[in-house]
Amino acid sequence: MKKILITGGAGYIGSHTAVELWNSGFEPIILDDLSNSNSGVLDGLESITGKRFTFIQGDCNDLAVLEQISKDHHISGVIHFAAFKSVGESTQLPLKYYKNNVGSLLVLLDWMARQEIKDLVFSSSCTVYGQPEVLPVTEATPRQEAESPYGNTKKICEDILVDYVKSKAPIRVISLRYFNPVGAHPSSKIGELPLGVPQNLVPYITQTAAGIREKLTVFGNDYDTPDGSCVRDYIHVVDLADAHIKALSFLSDKTEPFYEVFNVGSGNGNTVLEAIYAFEKVSGQALNYVIGPRRPGDVVKTWADTTKIREVLGWSPKFSLEDSMRDSWNWQKALGERK
Ligand code: NAD
Ligand code: WQD
Repeated sequence: MKKILITGGAGYIGSHTAVELWNSGFEPIILDDLSNSNSGVLDGLESITGKRFTFIQGDCNDLAVLEQISKDHHISGVIHFAAFKSVGESTQLPLKYYKNNVGSLLVLLDWMARQEIKDLVFSSSCTVYGQPEVLPVTEATPRQEAESPYGNTKKICEDILVDYVKSKAPIRVISLRYFNPVGAHPSSKIGELPLGVPQNLVPYITQTAAGIREKLTVFGNDYDTPDGSCVRDYIHVVDLADAHIKALSFLSDKTEPFYEVFNVGSGNGNTVLEAIYAFEKVSGQALNYVIGPRRPGDVVKTWADTTKIREVLGWSPKFSLEDSMRDSWNWQKALGERK
């Protein structure tokens, strides 16, 4: 069974990807410093798969940690999720973000070369597109000036990978540009665990519905969109996890240095209000929300053209926006029942 190192594997997307890796016949090896997650996720993973995955608590900026992993395991490939992802915090603490998000990739690439590990899937983001002029967004859409240091770390990491592969480094890389990951595993054993006040829409919706937050504020309804609220491409986290399996399998057939970028989204654009209505429909309860002022820096509308990933990787989304809202709500309720 091929072992795949998942950096940041205790996190939201990493943990869901660990399940899909296992279901696809790979053995996940999870490395996480628990800076934005907790080890309880391993119980959830075991409950879903029946397997206690190997977990190493450590910093993927630490070469010694990586070297110990390659002493203990024969690693066939890497999925690099580990990063800080708060747009707001990145504007306050840019060096923290450059050090971790860019620094960890550099350490990882050095280690992979030493260990002759060739396959890497990198977590990028649609944030590199900024506000696209043409929609839906294709991978050929020029990347825009980053809206935040966080977004810039993703652009820089992509540039590092392009230049490294151009240097004929013995590595095969796919960067996946995620749109808006939402939802949770249908088992409600794992899901998103935002620490503190949620920055993202869907956890804020579910925490409002659970009574943890008093109300949701919709950040503006006077945009040039069907109902005035911003448009996003919400992709179920299990669909997103599956894209990583398809990417790894595609890379394993390659023999030469390789780099490609793929959008991962549902291919649909939905407004904030449509997302709220979808939640109200599946939860059977009205959401307490108000319309407030625009959030500075918000992209008005964006959604993915998924032609390339469908045709090249043979991936397509299976879950709908309502499925995402249902699974997020079930996960929120399961959290509330935890002791
Ligand atoms: P997350 O915070 O839930 O997971 C990231 C994990 O990485 C956390 O468990 C954290 O503890 C760990 N980590 C951070 N720095 C580390 C380090 N130096 N060493 C070891 N572990 C470290 O975030 P997520 O939503 O699962 O995002 C995963 C990746 O996807 C990130 O690279 C993020 O930038 C990217 N991404 C996320 C979104 C989103 O909306 N969630 C969208 C686009 C891209
Ligand atoms: C979605 C929509 C808000 C909260 C962010 C990062 C991006 C990526 C994904 C890491 C927007 C609206 C939200 C609320 C609201 N992360 N909203 N009230 O901003 O599209 O993307 O997460 O890579 O880099 O920027 O996601 O969930 O914050 O917002 O009205 O309380 O919901 O204005 O239109 P966003 P989001």
